Amino acid sequence: MLGLQWGDEGKGKIVDVLTPEYDLVTRFQGGPNAGHTLEFEGNKFVLRSIPSGIFQGGKINIIGNGVVLDPALFKGEVDALAKSGHPLTERLKISKKAHLILPTHRLLDAAYESAKGEAKIGTTGKGIGPAYADKIGRNGVRVGDILNNFAEKYKSATDRHKEILRQYNFNYDNLPELEKEWFAGIECIKQFELIDSENFINNAILSDKKVLAEGAQGTLLDIDFGSYPFVTSSNTTCAGACTGLGIAPRSIGEVFGIFKAYCTRVGSGPFPTELSDETGDRMRKNGFEFGSVTGRPRRCGWIDLVALKYAIMINGVTQLIMMKSDVLDDFDAIKVCTAYKIDGKQTTEFPFDISENVEPVYVEFAGWKTDMTKMRSEAEFPENFNIYLSFLEKELNVPIKIVSVGPDRAQTVLR
Ligand code: GDP
Ligand code: IMO
Ligand code: MG
Repeated sequence: MLGLQWGDEGKGKIVDVLTPEYDLVTRFQGGPNAGHTLEFEGNKFVLRSIPSGIFQGGKINIIGNGVVLDPALFKGEVDALAKSGHPLTERLKISKKAHLILPTHRLLDAAYESAKGEAKIGTTGKGIGPAYADKIGRNGVRVGDILNNFAEKYKSATDRHKEILRQYNFNYDNLPELEKEWFAGIECIKQFELIDSENFINNAILSDKKVLAEGAQGTLLDIDFGSYPFVTSSNTTCAGACTGLGIAPRSIGEVFGIFKAYCTRVGSGPFPTELSDETGDRMRKNGFEFGSVTGRPRRCGWIDLVALKYAIMINGVTQLIMMKSDVLDDFDAIKVCTAYKIDGKQTTEFPFDISENVEPVYVEFAGWKTDMTKMRSEAEFPENFNIYLSFLEKELNVPIKIVSVGPDRAQTVLR
């Protein structure tokens, strides 16, 4: 299950909806930069590092090797879930090879951002980039290290980080406070089974168990294929599931691609179909488009088929899931970007750089002007909505198998 836009497509909701059909639910990349929202039976939860399969029966959930885990934030999630009657120790396992986000990674994230001046990425401030940089630079500390010479490994990493922070003139007086919470988080992690998750998952596949991989962020935030440098620091795309779980490409069956009926982005970076007018404000208001982690208002705009087709190609999407169509229920007209005009030339290919001179070419549709939030079957869909849906399916050339008409688990129409 992969986000096809700039994140926040509704992955958490749909993973929860699909979980009953699976045996294992796994996260393979990202960390607490993610905020995955689930709503059911009047409850609302926002998960960051914990997979969204924990609420549907006794399914096993796994934090895979490709994830970066912040023990302090993880403990916060575990404690909150235990309080609301969802103890996790039986249902959640953690890869020994997942990398730890150290308190100094968070400080480095802030130091690097402030040094960027005007060109800030607008990160979530969770230390994601610095933690992945240490992983690739072969300086990381892993979950499995907790069991062996941990104090030494921790000290060596943080001494190096402190040196950099001093070079950046970045004050780290609050480090002891952060460390207190962080080490309490390490104790919390120890309550869970720490596993070689690649073995566990491959054994499950061999015994015909079904595994759902829950992507975080979205394709346009992918480190290789997103709008670099305004991206996150992991492969958010299908290939990331192979490296982030240790599974072979041939083990991958269906690839679910999830997108909103319009488009949003948080943080800086290019967004060709962005609307800085009252139509954009209306999307933000109707869709309650505020970051589930940072609370920042999300930038809103029309759906972009140039970018979506690119995302479908990169991921090999076999089934599409369209979210938040209800947000457009009261719109008179709805636009769809079908091509870009760059320096007067029209193209449907996603270019190297979308930051300048990209003018979206739109096709306009009449709105359906119908409250769809109580609809539970395709037969109830208004005609103008069907016209919009068929157009998208034809252009994208992949079936849209699920339409979501509200945040609740029940507000889901299967086709
Ligand atoms: P994720 O990061 O992909 O899991 O998505 P987020 O949870 O960050 O953002 C999606 C937001 O939209 C959450 O507040 C969801 O509760 C909400 N949501 C999900 N599906 C729908 C839908 O079909 N309609 C509406 N109105 N809200 C939805
Ligand atoms: P989910 O899983 C939306 C964005 C940040 C910033 C950029 C880099 O909930 O869809 P980072 O902290 O990762 O270094 O920030 O990526 N970003 C997200 N935007 N949804 C997310 O996750 C995101 N995770 C990171 O806003 O622009
Ligand atoms: Mg989110």
